[in-house]
Amino acid sequence: MDNSTPTFRGCVLPDGQSFDAQPEQSLLDSITQGGIYWPSSCRSGTCRTCMGQLLEGQVRYEMEWPGLSAEEKQEGWILPCVARPLCDVVLKDPLCD
Ligand code: FES
Repeated sequence: MDNSTPTFRGCVLPDGQSFDAQPEQSLLDSITQGGIYWPSSCRSGTCRTCMGQLLEGQVRYEMEWPGLSAEEKQEGWILPCVARPLCDVVLKDPLCD
């Protein structure tokens, strides 16, 4: 029986770059390990440098993250440095508007 944790697929639009989204590490780590540039600074959920929009999928946080307002969360904004994927995810490249 295979007890290994499943790895989800991550994708960054509009370029469609893909990466392995590990459930047990931050999305930011998975993105950068996939060779994709993503802005970051504090890596602890406070500076908002890494803030990006989740277009598809779901993430979880270790705590209710203070770096995002309830409205921002509703609009799909996440902090990848402290977010972990719950399924396959699609993100919007923060450098493309
Ligand atoms: S890098 Fe600072 S909030 Fe994510």
